[in-house]
Amino acid sequence: MLEKLEQIRLAAQQALLKAESPQELEALQLSLLGRSGQLTEILRTMGKLQKDERAKVGQAANKVKRELEAAIAERTTQLSELQKAQRLAQERLDITEPGKVLRPRGRLHPMTKTYREIRDALIGMGFITFDGPEVELDENNFTLVNMPPDHSARDMQDTFYINDRVVLRTHTTPCEVRALKTLKPPFRVVVPGRCFRVDEVDASHSPIFMQMEGLVVDRNITMADLKGTLDTFVHAVFGEDVKTRLRPSYFPFTEPSGEMDISCTICKGKGCRVCKGTGWLEILGCGVTNPHEIENCGLDPHEWSAFAFGLGVDRVTSLKYGITDIRLEYENDARFLRQF
Ligand code: DAH
Repeated sequence: MLEKLEQIRLAAQQALLKAESPQELEALQLSLLGRSGQLTEILRTMGKLQKDERAKVGQAANKVKRELEAAIAERTTQLSELQKAQRLAQERLDITEPGKVLRPRGRLHPMTKTYREIRDALIGMGFITFDGPEVELDENNFTLVNMPPDHSARDMQDTFYINDRVVLRTHTTPCEVRALKTLKPPFRVVVPGRCFRVDEVDASHSPIFMQMEGLVVDRNITMADLKGTLDTFVHAVFGEDVKTRLRPSYFPFTEPSGEMDISCTICKGKGCRVCKGTGWLEILGCGVTNPHEIENCGLDPHEWSAFAFGLGVDRVTSLKYGITDIRLEYENDARFLRQF
């Protein structure tokens, strides 16, 4: 009996060392101490022993039982600690890892950026945004901005006609008419918009293009107001170092009219291919609004005066980013747009 006990003890200790999980230990415990376990069997058969032998074996068996119980319990704790540590290591989440990119991030079109920069600089000077339709009355597009039907300046703009009275607007200037007719002066508006002209597509022409119009209506407007406003937004878009100059020009809707140049963004005014050696780049048309236009829109030109300007958002964007082909700005090739 005692020998058998010793065998059970040794075998159990071996098994204990080999066990790799709390589940295995539980099975071991059952096979030793369960209802039909090896030790249990011995304890059960003890009744058949002699009295003095029974005491000896009983003591020994109980000792083995306690020893094994304690060993199994200790090993179980050990193994479950280990298992927990492994699980924690496995399930560890690195919350500093960058997330999965499910959809590439969108970005603003360079023309939208340019427009917003100009707009925001103007809003800082009290302008509000204003809007007008792309399909426009001939009357607003031409006649009321001082280009009546027989006016030679109409030839400057090859027009898409919808019918005798309706055109695709050739510039954002008709929005001046809409603003003058609906807003109560004094006011300042900035109007972005798509415009259309019959043009072959090439590196510098597109039949669809983006313009931006500005109009300031107040009493006693002068060219100085115009120049100060233009200088402010040009510097906001191109930086403080850029120089500006106003040249006389002609537009039917302004008198006097001018064109604003900025010092070449490529050569900084020294003269290069982009500025054709002049050191200057034209960026917009402008002027003091022709009193005819103010009167055509129902305001008294003796009381109200105005200045206006119009620019090609595509052109200003080209100059700002050094884009040499206008088509890139309208074709929306993602490889091009991703660069901004
Ligand atoms: N509408 C002109 C164009 O498309 C641009 C322009 C010039 C607008 C002078 C103006 C202005 O308001 O005063 O070429």
